[in-house]
Amino acid sequence: MRFLFCCCVSFVLRTTTADEYVVVQTTNGRVRGTVSDDVNAFLGVPYAKPPVDSLRWQRPQPSTPWSPAVYNATALQPGCPQHGCFDTNPAFVCPNKTSEDCLYLNIWTPSINTSLPVMVYIHGGNFVHLSASSPIFQGHDFVKKGKVVLVTFDYRLGVFGFLYTGSKPGDAEGNYGIRDQRLALQWVQQNIKYFGGDPTMVTLFGQSAGGQSIPVHLMAKDSKDLFRNVIIESAPFDIPFKTKTEATYLASTVIGLLNCTDAGDDYMSCLRSKSTDELAEAQHDSRTKPTSLKVLDFFEPLGPFVDGDVVPFEIITAIYGNKLRQVPTMIGTLSEEARIFVYEAWGKPLTLPEYIAVLFATYPSHLGEMLQQYPPSADGDNRDILTSLGTDFIFTCATRNMSRNFLKHGQTVHRYVFNHAFSFPGWGKFSYCEGHVCHGEEIAYVFHSADRSGFDFSADEERLSDELIAYWTNFAYTSDPNSGPHKINISWPTYDSNSTMLQFQTPKSASIQNYLKNKCDFWDSIGYSA
Ligand SMILES: *[C@@H]1O[C@H](CO)[C@@H](O)[C@H](O)[C@H]1NC(C)=O
Ligand SMILES: *[C@@H]1O[C@H](CO)[C@@H](O)[C@H](O)[C@H]1NC(C)=O
Ligand SMILES: *[C@@H]1O[C@H](CO)[C@@H](O)[C@H](O)[C@H]1NC(C)=O
Ligand SMILES: *[C@@H]1O[C@H](CO)[C@@H](O)[C@H](O)[C@H]1NC(C)=O
Ligand SMILES: *[C@@H]1O[C@H](CO)[C@@H](O)[C@H](O)[C@H]1NC(C)=O
Ligand SMILES: *[C@@H]1O[C@H](CO)[C@@H](O)[C@H](O)[C@H]1NC(C)=O
Ligand SMILES: *[C@@H]1O[C@H](CO)[C@@H](O)[C@H](O)[C@H]1NC(C)=O
Repeated sequence: MRFLFCCCVSFVLRTTTADEYVVVQTTNGRVRGTVSDDVNAFLGVPYAKPPVDSLRWQRPQPSTPWSPAVYNATALQPGCPQHGCFDTNPAFVCPNKTSEDCLYLNIWTPSINTSLPVMVYIHGGNFVHLSASSPIFQGHDFVKKGKVVLVTFDYRLGVFGFLYTGSKPGDAEGNYGIRDQRLALQWVQQNIKYFGGDPTMVTLFGQSAGGQSIPVHLMAKDSKDLFRNVIIESAPFDIPFKTKTEATYLASTVIGLLNCTDAGDDYMSCLRSKSTDELAEAQHDSRTKPTSLKVLDFFEPLGPFVDGDVVPFEIITAIYGNKLRQVPTMIGTLSEEARIFVYEAWGKPLTLPEYIAVLFATYPSHLGEMLQQYPPSADGDNRDILTSLGTDFIFTCATRNMSRNFLKHGQTVHRYVFNHAFSFPGWGKFSYCEGHVCHGEEIAYVFHSADRSGFDFSADEERLSDELIAYWTNFAYTSDPNSGPHKINISWPTYDSNSTMLQFQTPKSASIQNYLKNKCDFWDSIGYSA
């Protein structure tokens, strides 16, 4: 096992770079990190036993102690297995290396002798892609500027993280990825004090599928007490999780793709005999075989399913039924969230009949009203109007609905819309995102990490990034983005019945009201569970 360093060989400190080492205790033994530019980084610390061999499709188990050896937490570990990340995402969010042995976390801390707020980040990627090890999620600058402890981690994805084959003994029970997230949060509770963090001051934040994971932890009883407030970035609340029927159907597709159908009742042994790559490839192929004709289903081909326990409800059901534990919340979306998905799916103009077909497949019962609200374009290409529709329905208005639900119950919400496009060619081959505010853009500013991929921020963007880091980390200190160690230039009003929120933009962010009011009133009137 990679982390069992023998004490006989590992006690000599390396002195090659300007980096210094720092050693701290954990419940499993000591870990050695590096100090650089006033930030201590502990990379690739195992929080679970490697979920390989007989532990594939098992609940995550706490990792084995390595004491008295010192664990060398000086290098990022591979991401969880995934095929096709670079095809559908910009390079700086994808892991270069993957391995089934992927349950590691990374900690950045300004000092190990303090008791600072802790921010734990759940990465997105439709529950099938991305990794905490990717350049965009590197936390050095965030921690240096924000003066908090940051934890990022990998959780099992796709077929490894979410396969559900049934409820017989030996079956894959699904939702392993969500259990991994919870185990990482439990690790933080037990260990973060050794890294200068205060376990009673944990902010959970995440983007996209990571943001969608947060309501899951707000409804699951076993995730209670693991964090005290949340920041939800660009969560597609109305993309449904799988039902049991859909999850079972998806499993049969995967079993078929892996030639395990002939194994009959012995399908689990057959699946277990497959290599990591074969499984990742079957997972990738299953994307073209959605469990239903619903368009939304396509986005998260293999993710959480509603098991009534780890995932108690669909998010929309939980919002409507007030099933979310209410905690101070910062929440927001981007102005053109759906653009990358629409342009990725249609490489050429979307004709009127195609547009109507997509709307019908999305929400058959309200086709006429949708066409009225989002009239087809005169120039014969309906991709931009579909982008508006998708952005409003899946992100903006569902987010307004959740914000209003929290408001109704007296919970403080700070809501934002992010409306700034990269000044640099960060989207690479996804050129239709250039000059537009595509899904995920804010992450580069939150982590101040674009320079790791060779991109420079403009002066305005430096300011925007400072602003985001100040609000985000103030919130970790006080549950209010306006107060804490960082002076902010624009006061961010709490969300109210006029939908007061902050619009992040350059040259200057501003408070706005009634963002897309009519559109969101429309979606509220027909509902979000199409
Ligand atoms: C610790 O990790 C670093 C970086 O991977 C490596 O260069 C070094 O040799 C390791 N030290 C020990 C004692 O294993
Ligand atoms: C990943 O690979 C790409 C392309 O080879 C390279 O540009 C990038 O620096 C690599 N990223 C990391 C974190 O190693
Ligand atoms: C933290 O405290 C320990 C024990 O008091 C001390 O040895 C160490 O130098 C301190 N480290 C820093 C970075 O202040
Ligand atoms: C399944 O069978 C097909 C057809 O024989 C073959 O092309 C494919 O490689 C097999 N896949 C696996 C994972 O065994
Ligand atoms: C506040 O404004 C000043 C001057 O424009 C700028 O340098 C600084 O980065 C801003 N701070 C925040 C947190 O927005
Ligand atoms: C909402 O806006 C109306 C009209 O501008 C104003 O009268 C009302 O006080 C505002 N409500 C809140 C909660 O700010
Ligand atoms: C959210 O949307 C539902 C479904 O359309 C609607 O019934 C409900 O009133 C909305 N919730 C709030 C708090 O506005």
